[in-house]
Amino acid sequence: MLDIAFAKPALPKSGALALLVHEGERPSGLWQQADEATGGAISRAFEVAEFTGGKGKTCVILAPGANLTRVLAVGLGKPADVTAKVFEEAGGAVATNLSQEPSAAVANSALDAGQAADVALGAVLRAYRFDRYRTREKPEDLPKLAKLTVLTAETAKARTAWERAEAAAKGVFLTRDLVSEPANVLHPAEMAERCGQLTELGVKVDIFGLKELTKLGFGALLGVAKGSANEPRMVVMSWSGASGNGRKAKDKPIVFVGKGVTFDTGGISIKPAAGMEDMKWDMAGAGTVIGLMAALAGRKAKVDAIGLVGLVENMPSSTAQRPGDVVTSYSGQTIEVINTDAEGRLVLADVIWYAQQKYDPRFIIDLATLTGAIIIGLGHEYAGLFSNDDGLSQRLTAAGLATGERVWRMPLDEAYDKQIKSDIADMKNVGGRPGGSITAAQFIQRFVNGKPWAHLDIAGMAWATKDSAVIPKGATAFGVRLLDRLVADNYES
Ligand code: BES
Ligand code: MN
Ligand code: ZN
Repeated sequence: MLDIAFAKPALPKSGALALLVHEGERPSGLWQQADEATGGAISRAFEVAEFTGGKGKTCVILAPGANLTRVLAVGLGKPADVTAKVFEEAGGAVATNLSQEPSAAVANSALDAGQAADVALGAVLRAYRFDRYRTREKPEDLPKLAKLTVLTAETAKARTAWERAEAAAKGVFLTRDLVSEPANVLHPAEMAERCGQLTELGVKVDIFGLKELTKLGFGALLGVAKGSANEPRMVVMSWSGASGNGRKAKDKPIVFVGKGVTFDTGGISIKPAAGMEDMKWDMAGAGTVIGLMAALAGRKAKVDAIGLVGLVENMPSSTAQRPGDVVTSYSGQTIEVINTDAEGRLVLADVIWYAQQKYDPRFIIDLATLTGAIIIGLGHEYAGLFSNDDGLSQRLTAAGLATGERVWRMPLDEAYDKQIKSDIADMKNVGGRPGGSITAAQFIQRFVNGKPWAHLDIAGMAWATKDSAVIPKGATAFGVRLLDRLVADNYES
């Protein structure tokens, strides 16, 4: 991870300098000093480039003098429209435009502590890379940027703000690493193993194997797992930030559940070949829950939170479940499996029921790359939110706007629930094409036992096919920052 420091504003004696400039701003402070030290090179470059600080606009000046290697200007737009997101995105622009510099300083006429931390976070998130399987990269093709110093008068406060942000960034990186891994490496046992690293942060990690899951009667999850030689796991991660050290919590724990299908071939209802490789990231819901637990524990959040992930591989084989099979879920309800490719809801059904039985949670939020239909409905801009609780929905929506990980509420209704009636069992696992994401959510709701619950369908959000301001293409870790923020703003004692 990019190394972050905070220092009082002073013109660097060498190296690279990034100036964050408001629309129409006049030179002052460091900007003016740098311009004078370079004999007006910055003003001249802005003039030629017609750079006036427009939002997202950049201008790079090479070797302007005063021993500086590069000066980068990043436009922030009008001061009245500036939000945390604008500073994060500016940080992202610094990470990409100065990637060839070993270190850089970032300044603005008056960065406060929060803004300084936002810039740092944006830069760190944008600089993420998953290089584990590259063995022949030339040094000149690798980014050199290793250290970023953000200049602010409020250095002490900025360091405190950064501690929280850094924990979130570490959670995001853990999630991105997991989601990026190929499925031959990251099978259920390996993914469960990797949850073990959370113990270093003070998280209690319990792993359930095939034996335990069979004994519990996880018939829905085990039906999915049956076709694979890679045995399933369930991992329970507990962070006791409110009740630890002999204290008793006044609130019940909050619970997060993730779909962890380490590879989804569709099973016997097999998917077409084109694009099937994407299904290595069908464990992103679980990956996000794991990263979220790391973020909460990393910043010692004052909350009791439990993360549960159901880890399976969905394969076709002679031992795989068949279309038409009936399974008995952990809740006791029976399910006719019409389509073995609607497997995520089967996994979630058992884990969600277990979470309620065992923990009597304050609320449950599940995350899953559940349906292709949510991509048709919402594209790659919003995750689908389904909930039985208006307050929880509002808080999630607000956290989405604050972090840029946005959610859009979709309906739940008796009328949709009728679509999953079965002729021979309590329900079937698919409801036909109309409202495919909603009937999937209705299915999950049948395993919600009167608790406030929200389901996030992140199928359109977990993976990016192009770079954006603070997310390089690939695994996004959508949901880590959203839920970390939800907790910070509403659920800490
Ligand atoms: N993992 C998929 C959903 C998915 C599709 C995620 C594309 C990301 C990108 C899920 O298990 C699935 O296969 N869903 C089916 C459900 C259908 C059989 C009712 C789908 O969406 O086609
Ligand atoms: Mn599927
Ligand atoms: Zn799936």
